[in-house]
Amino acid sequence: MPETALFSSADPQFLADVLSGLRGPRRAIPARWFYDERGSELFDEITRLPEYYPTRTETALLENCRGALAVQIEQGATVIEFGAGSATKTPLLLDAINPDCYVPIDISGDYLRSSASVLQSRFPDLSILPVEADFTQRLALPENVGDKSIVGFFPGSTIGNFVPCSGVDLLRHMRDILGEGAKLLIGFDRIKSADILVPAYDDAAGITAAFNLNLLHRINKELDGDIPVDAFRHEIVWNDREARIEMHLRCSRDVRFEVAGCEFAISQGEGIHTENSHKYDLRGLRLLLRSGGWTPMAEFSDPENWFTLVLAEAAPNQSAP
Ligand code: AVJ
Repeated sequence: MPETALFSSADPQFLADVLSGLRGPRRAIPARWFYDERGSELFDEITRLPEYYPTRTETALLENCRGALAVQIEQGATVIEFGAGSATKTPLLLDAINPDCYVPIDISGDYLRSSASVLQSRFPDLSILPVEADFTQRLALPENVGDKSIVGFFPGSTIGNFVPCSGVDLLRHMRDILGEGAKLLIGFDRIKSADILVPAYDDAAGITAAFNLNLLHRINKELDGDIPVDAFRHEIVWNDREARIEMHLRCSRDVRFEVAGCEFAISQGEGIHTENSHKYDLRGLRLLLRSGGWTPMAEFSDPENWFTLVLAEAAPNQSAP
């Protein structure tokens, strides 16, 4: 069984997603696989780029809505963050609402533990209970967490990575995890001119291009691939009909390569779809939330309406009238 021996260290889900994703004619690999160590570093650089407005805008919003959040959310709550907390956004929320307990959920255990220890030194009285899990799958919260009022935190407009139908599934899943009476603070990137959107994903310094291409390097490294990375270029499309930015890796010549012992061929001009980043208007994001079982309570937008943070409440289980 050479395959099992060779790839026993690889993530079996990564292997499965890549092998099925590279099969044509519509090649696509889920965006979650961008985030190996190098990919996480590059994403961190992206958040500081002049063209990439979402992080700055959302951080400023969090600062500005602190007072409103403190009124709407009881003291001593439990905050459950989907994806481990960023060093800048999470402390702003913790400062604002003063919770007793913080539960970061992330698939990367190493990242989870290191960010938890950084946070613990800033908030010595906070009880931090990291959960290493894929938040799109079934998971159990630590015991006793359910006794407090619960606030989910899903910043960054990560919801935009999901097509609306899976986004609704995820929101419903979060409602199941967080329970009746829970609240959710969630970030949405807004529909705006393609002149602003496209450069945010195609920056002059080429960091987003490197982030996109790093996926191929990761495949070569972790899945024993020999993809000629130099044959691919970073491509950004604004898909107006679906209101999303798409990232692709476009092939500039015919190539053949192997991944995990399987052969692939991609012709010049064909591509691999690597990310969707859906943008919303207010009506669209409200409908998405309601479809997912969440009732919007308060919305916070910047003056240019580039980004919106919504505080929502788990909708009761009732369908009447
Ligand atoms: C982390 C999913 C919010 O869609 O803006 C940034 C990822 N990709 N630049 C986004 C990303 C390219 C980012 N999210």
